[in-house]
Amino acid sequence: MRTIVFATSNEDKLKEIREILPEAELLTMGGIGFHEEIEENGQSFEDNALIKARAVADYIRKARPDLSDALVLADDSGLEIDAMDGMPGVHSHRWLGERTYREAMEDIIAKLDGLPDEKRGTRFVCAIAAVLPRTEDAEEGRELVLRRTVEGIVARSIRGEGGFGYDPFFYVPEYGCTTAEMSREQKNAISHRGKALRAMREELLREGLL
Ligand code: IMP
Repeated sequence: MRTIVFATSNEDKLKEIREILPEAELLTMGGIGFHEEIEENGQSFEDNALIKARAVADYIRKARPDLSDALVLADDSGLEIDAMDGMPGVHSHRWLGERTYREAMEDIIAKLDGLPDEKRGTRFVCAIAAVLPRTEDAEEGRELVLRRTVEGIVARSIRGEGGFGYDPFFYVPEYGCTTAEMSREQKNAISHRGKALRAMREELLREGLL
């Protein structure tokens, strides 16, 4: 069974990932003894996912030679709003400042007040990066990176208790509800992270790495 170290400390994320990647043994950063804060200062979701995956792969090289066959995965995600030139984007979490998610969503809803649906476009984006195990002839492990999105519109009011973050105002017209009103299975089936993880799994299977 392939060991995958996922660059997260978030147990909820890990649960979701475990459902999508049943053929791997999944470990977290904490689980392999990596406790440093990784500075996510990239300009894109792909940059940030790669920064995290490389940091963990570096740690394994230096401190955990017993895991040299492990594959490292990292994700980075966020929300883009068309009427705000793609903001908050890679800054989705930092952009909150002192506000709660609820307050930030209410601010955005007020800012978009009066805009018709066709101008309320938004998407969740998720990039996933992989650093593959080093082969005999390579100094560095090869890298893969991909992105997937889910499209929605900014709702006119906050709805739903499920999910997290910006889910309660992310309205998906095809389903007639926000992602916070979906079951976990329903959201995983259509979400940016679910799609990106499944695409990465396909890629790893194609490469014979799973
Ligand atoms: P992370 O870097 O993948 O942990 O995500 C960055 C931020 O993007 C989160 O803190 C949320 O603000 C936002 N975000 C990412 N994915 C979702 C989602 O599925 N629902 C709601 N908010 C999300």
